[in-house]
Amino acid sequence: MRGRFITFEGGEGSGKSTQAKLLAERLRPFGIGVVLTREPGGSTGAEAVRHVLLSGAAKPLGAHAEAILFAAARDDHVRQTIRPALDAGRWVISDRFADSTRIYQGTLGNVDSRLIARLEHITIGDTRPDLTIILDVPVDLGLQRASWRRGETAGDRFEAEDRDFHEKLREAYLELAERDPERCALIDGSADPATVGNAIWALVNARLHPAEAPVHLEDVAP
Ligand code: TYD
Repeated sequence: MRGRFITFEGGEGSGKSTQAKLLAERLRPFGIGVVLTREPGGSTGAEAVRHVLLSGAAKPLGAHAEAILFAAARDDHVRQTIRPALDAGRWVISDRFADSTRIYQGTLGNVDSRLIARLEHITIGDTRPDLTIILDVPVDLGLQRASWRRGETAGDRFEAEDRDFHEKLREAYLELAERDPERCALIDGSADPATVGNAIWALVNARLHPAEAPVHLEDVAP
């Protein structure tokens, strides 16, 4: 039986990485094999493209070219990591996926939605998430968290955008949650990690019923 595919989305400092890890830890005791991954990256080829994108080296090429590069990374990630894991019955949790391209390059970068849809068709095909968890935090809190996290080092290509960019980003995620409620769920990410984690756990139980998943023997510790 195909595994389940869960993606986390949200703006900077929304707590996606922490919550993706917490969710993986809560699923494993059920005997579910869990693959925790991220974008851009998650496979050898995609990690190589990650640096080009996040360093800002591709920024002069424009949002159009960045969308194509994110798609190239995703193509490798889907083929090398996500699809094989789902086919083996594992659950895949990805910190960002195709919605990030729709929102960062599409809505904010003004890349034509038809190009984005074509790229999705080619790269992900029917490997679509069963559940997308959108973590929502006020912009100031998100930027503050991102700045604590990186300490003295400079923000990456997208963290360095201005406040208006981050406000629009938040709006775009709220709209996505409203437009596609079957797949997406909005979770308030401003509370402490344990509280947010409990809300996510309740959601995953209600939608994907992990207690009924077949036990994945290879992943159960002896
Ligand atoms: P990352 O360092 O992984 O951190 P975080 O997800 O916590 O922000 O940064 C990934 C950055 O790349 C993030 O600013 C969003 C951006 N991004 C896109 O613009 N398009 C995409 O398709 C993806 C996957 C990410």
